[in-house]
Formats: sequence, C-alpha cells, structure tokens
Amino acid sequence: MVFEPKILGFLCNWCSYAGADLAGVSRIQYPTNVRVIRVMCSGRVDPVFIAEAFMNGIDGVLVLGCHLGDCHYINGNYEAELKMKMLSKTLSMINFSDRVRLDWVSAAEGARFAQIVSDFTEHIRKLGPSPVKNKKVKKEIIDNLNAVKFALCDTRLRALVARQRELTTDGNVYGEIIPTEEFEEILDNAIENEIIRHKILEKIKNKGKSVPDIAKEIEIEPHKVLRHIVTLRARGLVDVDQINEEIPTFISIKEV
Ligand code: FES
Repeated sequence: MVFEPKILGFLCNWCSYAGADLAGVSRIQYPTNVRVIRVMCSGRVDPVFIAEAFMNGIDGVLVLGCHLGDCHYINGNYEAELKMKMLSKTLSMINFSDRVRLDWVSAAEGARFAQIVSDFTEHIRKLGPSPVKNKKVKKEIIDNLNAVKFALCDTRLRALVARQRELTTDGNVYGEIIPTEEFEEILDNAIENEIIRHKILEKIKNKGKSVPDIAKEIEIEPHKVLRHIVTLRARGLVDVDQINEEIPTFISIKEV
C-alpha cells in the first residue's frame, strides 16, 4: 500500500492562504495530504505547536508565510525564520528536522503553493511514516519529543531567540554586537542544556537519585549533572529527597 503522509500546513492569512485559495480556484492539481491551519502570520506559529503535532503522529509540517519584506505585520516572517531555526536545531538532535519546512508563498502564487506542497509531500513520502507510529520505538520517540518541547518552552531560550536580530545587528545595552557564529554557539549550548535537564527530570520523576547515579544513567560527567541540578532547584523543579551517609538524592517535584 502506498504511504500517504499526513501533513500539517500552517498558512498565513494574508499571503499563503490566499495563494492556496488561488491554486484551488485555478484548478491546479496538487496532493491532498496537507491539513491546513490558517494563522494570521507565520510569526504566530509557536515551535511548540509543531513538537505537539509530531507527538500526535503527524508525518510532516509545512509553515508558509508571505515573502520576506512582505509580511503584513512588518517582520513576522523574520521572526518565523528565527523560531524555525531554533526548532530545526532542536529537532536535529532527535533526527526529526527533515520533517519541517518553512517557505514563502504570495497571494498571487497559486502554482508555487501547489509545487511546494507536491515537493514536500514527495519528500515526506520518501522519508516514510513518522517513527511515532512504530509501536516498538514510540515511547522512546515520544520521550525525545517531550525533551524537545521542554527545551522549546524554556523562557530564557525563547527570550534569546526573540532578541537574536537585535543582539546580532544593533547590539546589547552596551552597544556590543554579538557575532552570528558566537550567537549560534550560545543557542546550541542553551538547547543542549535544556535537553539534558529534561533527561535528568525524567530519571528522577518517581524516585530520588544521587548525582553519580543520574550521571551514570544519562552518561554525562557528575559535575555537569550537579550544575544542572542546581539550575533545576533554582527553578523549583527539583528538591532534595533524602540524605544518606552525607550523599543527597534529588527528586523531581513538578510535572513538566
Ligand atoms: S502576515 Fe504573512 S507572514 Fe506575516
């Protein structure tokens, strides 16, 4: 049986949705695999929506907005570009980044809309069904997607992405401009740290564990685990469970 991917399409109201409409009115043929959600602007698409779509078994996600410079909210599509970049970095850690695409379609580009949908559907068909549908690995994949969602929800990370353009072009309050490569490195580290923190929280969800035990389970050095535990305690997500022979165990105290 031919695999028919389920694709979710977020289309901005002012350009891409109108482009899709034009494709329909012009009777241009294209695959029917995309389920459309109309949003006011591509910048409205929170990367968390996409992580949740994948958790629900969607095979691919298309985000379509106005061409750069044409956004009806001035820079919504530039914001979308930055958010999708953060999402792509995060998803690449669990081999999911190939299943998302951001592109631009104007209200006059019905044919372009049909072409993008056809190409993306073919691309997802080649990748095959989402691994979430595979019962053998479903739990592991959902755990990974949960870690991605945890990272994407982090307010510090979101604030960093929101200020990316300002910090790399205009500079911080002292007028210092952060070179793009340096900013990318900061972002990569922040994402990686959030994913590790989520792994730690998963390990101590139901039972308190010591730093060396957690370190062994998630295969990172104990001093790094301790650093993350300190951060998680400061956020009110972790507390000391017991102290046995001067060695504390830590437990997660909040559902994430
Ligand atoms: S209004 Fe279309 S991308 Fe912002």
